[in-house]
Amino acid sequence: MHSGFSYHNSIELFKLHKFLRRMEFMQKLCKVFEFTRMLLGLFVHFVIYKLGKSKMQRNENDISGKCVVVTGGSGGIGKWCVKEFAQRGATVVIGVRNMETGRNVVDEIQKETGNMNVTILNLDLSDMDSVEEFARKVSTDYPKIKILLNNAGIGASKSENVKTKDGFNIHVAVNYLSHFLLTNLLMDNLKAETNSRIVSMTSTFALMSQLQIDDLNMDKSRFGLQNFIPYSNTKCMLALFTKELGKRIGVNVYAVCPGIVDTAIFDDVPLLAKLVFRMSRLFTTSPKEAASNFVMRCALEKSLENESGETYRFRGHFHAVKKKLETYSESHLYETSARLVNLKERMERIHSPLETQTLTL
Ligand SMILES: NC(=O)c1ccc[n+]([C@@H]2O[C@H](COP(=O)([O-])OP(=O)(O)OC[C@H]3O[C@@H](n4cnc5c(N)ncnc54)[C@H](OP(=O)(O)O)[C@@H]3O)[C@@H](O)[C@H]2O)c1
Repeated sequence: MHSGFSYHNSIELFKLHKFLRRMEFMQKLCKVFEFTRMLLGLFVHFVIYKLGKSKMQRNENDISGKCVVVTGGSGGIGKWCVKEFAQRGATVVIGVRNMETGRNVVDEIQKETGNMNVTILNLDLSDMDSVEEFARKVSTDYPKIKILLNNAGIGASKSENVKTKDGFNIHVAVNYLSHFLLTNLLMDNLKAETNSRIVSMTSTFALMSQLQIDDLNMDKSRFGLQNFIPYSNTKCMLALFTKELGKRIGVNVYAVCPGIVDTAIFDDVPLLAKLVFRMSRLFTTSPKEAASNFVMRCALEKSLENESGETYRFRGHFHAVKKKLETYSESHLYETSARLVNLKERMERIHSPLETQTLTL
């Protein structure tokens, strides 16, 4: 009697196991399909951009003598953005984690553009205290900020769930929470300037995100195919944060995806992802082109003056991301992020009357 039951039981278990394996396989297949569809969409929009490129026109706001703050300006797209701003006569403050690399970049840009008003300040985006300190210095030294470019970021990595000293997932901290905090801490300075803008770098990978706002730090969430979910989630968070700011404030906000750009950001990805990136080189842009044609459009173009809170890919609206964002609550994201980074306490510290008194003495 007993052995009959266990035989029947083991057949049932075997069937269940087979069924689960089949489901897992189907899920993976769906992900591959979703990924292929995402790449195809990117490719189509890349071709559309290339075809329209010769007719591209510029009508930009004048930023000479204005203050621009850039995170991650020591390499890749950020460095080229700093060059673009410097060429237009802006005072550029770059947040860098490696001061030596930063100093070399400043020397290079000063020599190339003749603009000596390019400076660096220490900023480690994986550490919220460093973000607060950076914001304190910037907000004291530059009462009016014309543009904040939330550019710095890290791509997917081979190692899963690296935590920062604050206990955040490294991707969530560097790509999103630090920029959420910085933007809020510099908000008064941005509002003090006329027609100021905030630009955040998002990605087509936002479409692959599996964001759960109640598990923003990804303590319970899975990291997905080739560990790309944390990166994808943070890029979705930046677009959603942009949407929320678009409703809330008197500063224009934009999120922009530059397509696939030839930089070092995905150098540390697992092997299979590396192969896919190598293959997609056919439709990559250079960091110079990404900075000049996509980021500068959101940062400077007059025709975007009446738009705020939107996400763009190349030079057009990114409709697929807009649709994806509709499934989330942007105010829920804002409140959760504010709680995680202790926004209220940090704001009070930066704007405390005691500190203001000390500074004016
Ligand atoms: N490249 C693409 O295909 C692509 C596509 C879509 C979106 N994007 C987005 O564009 C932005 C720029 O990427 P990129 O391609 O130019 O990458 P990149 O060449 O790797 O540059 C990233 C920058 O971020 C800085 N950074 C990284 N971690 C930091 C930290 N903890 N604190 C301060 N700075 C830190 C880096 O500084 P160090 O020099 O010290 O490392 C570097 O300056 C990212 O937000 C990325 O997600 C890129």
